[in-house]
Amino acid sequence: KKARMLVDKKYKVGNVDKRIFGSFIEHLGRAVYEGIYEPDHPQADDKGFRKDVIELVKELNVPIVRYPGGNFVSGYNWEDGIGPKEKRPKRLELAWGVIEPNEVGVDEFAEWAKRADTDIMMAVNLGTRGMDAARYLVEYCNHPSGTYWSDLRISNGAAQPHNIKVWCLGNEMDGPWQIGHKTADEYGRLACETAKVMKWVDPTIELVACGSSGSGMPTFPQWEATVLDHTYEHVDYISLHTYYGNRDNDTPNFLARSLDMDKFISTVISTCDYVKAKKRSNKTINLSFDEWNVWYHSHDSDQHVERWSTAPHQVEDSYNLEDALVVGCMLITLLKHADRVKIACLAQLVNVIAPIMTEKGGPAWKQTIYYPFMHASNYGRGTVLMPVVDAPKYDSKDFTDVPIIESVAIENEEKNELTIFAVNRDMEDALELECVLGGYEGYKVKEHIILNGDDIKAGNSVERPDNVIPRKIQDGRVDGETLSVMLPRLSWNVIRLG
Ligand code: AHR
Repeated sequence: KKARMLVDKKYKVGNVDKRIFGSFIEHLGRAVYEGIYEPDHPQADDKGFRKDVIELVKELNVPIVRYPGGNFVSGYNWEDGIGPKEKRPKRLELAWGVIEPNEVGVDEFAEWAKRADTDIMMAVNLGTRGMDAARYLVEYCNHPSGTYWSDLRISNGAAQPHNIKVWCLGNEMDGPWQIGHKTADEYGRLACETAKVMKWVDPTIELVACGSSGSGMPTFPQWEATVLDHTYEHVDYISLHTYYGNRDNDTPNFLARSLDMDKFISTVISTCDYVKAKKRSNKTINLSFDEWNVWYHSHDSDQHVERWSTAPHQVEDSYNLEDALVVGCMLITLLKHADRVKIACLAQLVNVIAPIMTEKGGPAWKQTIYYPFMHASNYGRGTVLMPVVDAPKYDSKDFTDVPIIESVAIENEEKNELTIFAVNRDMEDALELECVLGGYEGYKVKEHIILNGDDIKAGNSVERPDNVIPRKIQDGRVDGETLSVMLPRLSWNVIRLG
């Protein structure tokens, strides 16, 4: 089979905002405790953070991490997590049915973020709480000194403000499972008033309003329209969340799921722009896709999590090769919308539906999905070029006209590099890709990295951490303006030219 792609230096989608390679740490399962924080671990640093985990996070080059939830945030009192650890309360955590020990709170997480070379995207509780808790948290984190909350931060050991720039106004407030679930009007009003006071405390912050927790929600996309009607002039982004699974073991259909993500993004853009037109506004609302991933492997085992335990094994999906291909397709989809998607968070980062796993007292290791994310984050920065692709198509249970290739090209002007990311969705055959490169005279293939294998269900584990890993192949050449390269069946490909 054969596909043709055209990329031209002159035809650009937009610049990649590096925050598109963000991720997420929630107080959920073993993400924090036994994940990033394990004071008794041989690799723990002076604050109890696992250095081996920090190293793996740094390899992923994650510029921003959403915290502390997720569903967790909608019942969270952030004040429980500050001050002397021995005085912090243990609380019933209603979102996930566990006990939250509060050993890690905002100051510890800010320290971890510094050590992991990343920024924080902080969510405030708009489930059980509201304007006061939110504005005091901004004051605690960002006000330099001389007020009750900023001086409290200083007395708790953080002399410098944490300077958190991006804030989420609650989490998934459209979902009936959410603590303090609201209608769009209820949430919109609260988000608007909370946004105002937060920005009055620190006018430099950016705010994300909750969009729908999935495009399948019955209130989508009216939710977005109503929420933006209330908040338009006070917020900067609207959020999107999506998770895909393959419970029916239908790989061609599973691999096509990124088409749904693409449609979701386009619909939210249209809704934002509809409200913009309605309000005669010059301001554009951008998108924060702040939860996305594959999530389904752990659904059954999570039914048996012990109630009121602390940091149980919860929401721990074991990922295989086909999951990595779906993650690759989702990354390409986000990049194709770089003009409007400015923030995105792979949900999540450690242990909970995560690329990085840890053993208590033992090693940290990489799941299959680690690799497409690492490649995209490291080689996918620069300018996205308009992808024009002509490829064979297939139909699956839920989709028609699925191109067998998902691909995008990014130019890194600083490094004089052009990178093509491509997934071959074909179950049987390798795909010959012919790509005409306009404006890249003299470029040669520097490297072709692939992630593939005979067994699409193969994954990694603590015993076999290198079972599925990427490798470099000697393939691909440029003749004049045309790149020719073979993409093996069911493969993730990174073709780096320069
Ligand atoms: O990422 C896991 C959960 O998924 C988050 O807590 C919630 O926001 C979403 O439903």
